[in-house]
Amino acid sequence: MSSHYKKHFRKRRRRTFLAILFLLGIIALFTYDSNARIITEEFSVSSGKLPANFDGYRIVQLSDLHGKSFGNGSSELVKAVKNAKPDIIVITGDLIEDSKSGSWAQTLLKKLVDIAPVYFVTGNHEWASGGLVELLYIMEDCGVKALGNKYTVLEKDGEKIVLAGIDDPNGLADQKTPQQLFREVRAEQGDIYSILLAHRNNRLDTYAEAGADLVLCGHGHGGIWRLPFVGGIIDVNRTLIAKYDSGFYIKDNTVQFVSRGLGTIWHIPRFLNNPQVAVIVLKK
Ligand SMILES: [Fe+2]
Repeated sequence: MSSHYKKHFRKRRRRTFLAILFLLGIIALFTYDSNARIITEEFSVSSGKLPANFDGYRIVQLSDLHGKSFGNGSSELVKAVKNAKPDIIVITGDLIEDSKSGSWAQTLLKKLVDIAPVYFVTGNHEWASGGLVELLYIMEDCGVKALGNKYTVLEKDGEKIVLAGIDDPNGLADQKTPQQLFREVRAEQGDIYSILLAHRNNRLDTYAEAGADLVLCGHGHGGIWRLPFVGGIIDVNRTLIAKYDSGFYIKDNTVQFVSRGLGTIWHIPRFLNNPQVAVIVLKK
């Protein structure tokens, strides 16, 4: 081969190498952003059943943190929640990753309760972590209300709505079903606007059958990697292009919102799927 051709191939190899390097750099940059930069997204949910005094009521939903810190002492997350000006904060499961997450959770929860009342339901990871009992003690200590198959009444200027919560199906085998819980709600509170906190995103039929007006879920992680026009690629049940990965779903009179969550599992980084602080604004 003449020296002219050798030079030509060397040049082409170098160009290809630089192009690959550039591409990897872009992917690394997007991956970093997709895991570190929290995005606050606001959604309105209207219902004629909502009492007028709850018009404009702001619920900040945090889901699937899996023990992840955003900034020193979760400062970035706390700032995002504060800026959202919530009336209440709800945590829809998979807050902790393992039994060592206790002091991390305590630091975060103490800051959150200073912003607004905090409510919590368990996810599958709490039950698998070995740290649930300690977490519940920490919550009691911080003033976080765990809604394990129970409900509470939220009041605003004399009007009421119900905030109910169910434990993850990975919890106790003989736990109350959503249907049983909502039978109680109706027997004790009548036909009242009711919000359900439930970790799992793939049980809309059950939530609709129970008769919740609005359900706030997580678990799906937005499909971990997201692509424009496609949405989530794979969910935490290892289903490709799974339904219920993010946003709103409706069945009968039940509106379900699925958060993309904030953290990661199996150490797989999120891609084009920034950690989400969801703000649900109730509208009459
Ligand atoms: Fe989960």
